[in-house]
Amino acid sequence: MTGMFITFEGPEGAGKSTNVYYLTNRLQEVGYSVVVTREPGGTELSEKIRELLLDPSFKKMANDTELLLVFAARAEHLKQVIIPAIEEGKVVICDRFTDATYAYQGGGRGIDINKIALLERMVQGTVRPDLTLLFDLPAAVGLSRVKRNRGSLDRFEQEDLQFFGAVREAYWQRAEKYPDIFRIIDASQTIEKVQLQMDACFIEIWERLNVG
Ligand code: TMP
Repeated sequence: MTGMFITFEGPEGAGKSTNVYYLTNRLQEVGYSVVVTREPGGTELSEKIRELLLDPSFKKMANDTELLLVFAARAEHLKQVIIPAIEEGKVVICDRFTDATYAYQGGGRGIDINKIALLERMVQGTVRPDLTLLFDLPAAVGLSRVKRNRGSLDRFEQEDLQFFGAVREAYWQRAEKYPDIFRIIDASQTIEKVQLQMDACFIEIWERLNVG
């Protein structure tokens, strides 16, 4: 029995968390066992690495340090949580995964994507998401939502519009490269309209689980 690995991606302020909750409920209602987790994080050790990555006092962290920390957290998360859950036949819903590395470290920081691909193969082997829901939003809208709703800004939230424009562009490149895996959710719409898009994804997931 193998489960399913679903990831949520997109910029800050796109409403991912609300919709992780929404999809989880829908799947649990029809009897699936769902593991909800996030990156960077998801284990005690990986959550500590998350604190380092988000801490604004490390403003000048080297790009390679950032990249290696992200993958160190991921290695631990895969071994302790994601792989065991998939092998037990569970549905894993992960708030961000390696596409965020391509978007933030690749697009935002300008790290060569071949370097990212190398670490991806080293850390993940053949593990890749079965489905990725990309919450798409103009960079300026996401940034203004974050600034309005959050008290203090973390190391990434403090980046500028140019950074988030590059993040969005890199996400689009990933979606174009992997159309079988990516589903794009227009996150600029109202909650009700976003949930209609989520319902379509839920049906697709439900069908895939039943066929598989
Ligand atoms: P969030 O989980 O609260 O949305 O924020 C986590 C931050 O970490 C977010 O700004 C994106 C960033 N991040 C990366 O830069 N690379 C990664 O691989 C992941 C998973 C997250």
